[in-house]
Amino acid sequence: MSIAFTALKTSSLSTRSRFVAAASPLARHLQTSTTNAMATPSEQPLKKEPKYKTFEIYRWNPDQPSEKPRLETYKVDLNACGPMVLDALIKIKNEDDPTLTFRRSCREGICGSCAMNIEGGNTLACIHKIDTDVSKPAKIYPLPHMNVVKDLVPDLTHFYNQYKSIEPYLKQKQGPTDGKENLQSIEDRKKLDGLYECILCACCSTSCPSYWWNQEEYLGPAVLMQAYRWMIDSRDQFGLERREKLQNKMSLYRCHTIMNCSKTCPKGLAPGTAIAKIKYMMATE
Ligand code: SF4
Ligand code: SF4
Ligand code: FES
Repeated sequence: MSIAFTALKTSSLSTRSRFVAAASPLARHLQTSTTNAMATPSEQPLKKEPKYKTFEIYRWNPDQPSEKPRLETYKVDLNACGPMVLDALIKIKNEDDPTLTFRRSCREGICGSCAMNIEGGNTLACIHKIDTDVSKPAKIYPLPHMNVVKDLVPDLTHFYNQYKSIEPYLKQKQGPTDGKENLQSIEDRKKLDGLYECILCACCSTSCPSYWWNQEEYLGPAVLMQAYRWMIDSRDQFGLERREKLQNKMSLYRCHTIMNCSKTCPKGLAPGTAIAKIKYMMATE
């Protein structure tokens, strides 16, 4: 649009003005580009020497069930690769081994698809930098203690069913009677900060020892934090009922405040603290 506008303006300019317009930033950029294109070989930036890093990646193929899972080794030239672990995985898949399977979508820590265990910690591959120390391999596994669909892809069916079970949406007994919006004060809205940002990547739940051993019944930190998010939403009218559903030995009280969950969250959230707040509400009402 600005180019069209410039062209329109330029057409009605005097000859001198046209000369000035020719020296505009766009024209200067074009001139510079042309000059660069004509740079002599000695002026070209030097191509860096390859710097190979070893990646050891968990592989398992459901189509070959008799074969045990294994670690497969790949070498990636860090000087020809983006800085994040997801960049290396994409490079391996594109250039080396198209059978390597992993999830990804946004590549900027928003969708939660690329959650995996990298060098011993659960995190998002797209925002986790490759350790440039090439003397040690980068080991990559799927999220721990989950069934594996293939390679780095965990089966999250149970995790999402647990999320569904807490009814993660606004519930009201009596909505606004005047047909207007559900208004919320600025202070009440602020209470949701640090909770609504969760991208349900499952890094926290799959780092929780209680969830490893009891995930059939224990809801785990990600889901419990979302339960808390709706309990403290000023517009929701089912907080008491939401807490009553957790009043049993397993759903909530399997949390022993080990805090692996808050330590591992790649979004810097604190699900362990949210769980403690639910326990406090339940103990004091
Ligand atoms: S604080 Fe609770 S939910 Fe978080 S890791 Fe520990 S036991 Fe699991
Ligand atoms: S709390 Fe953090 S680690 Fe857990 S699911 Fe949400 S974003 Fe992922
Ligand atoms: S690709 Fe979306 S969070 Fe990593």
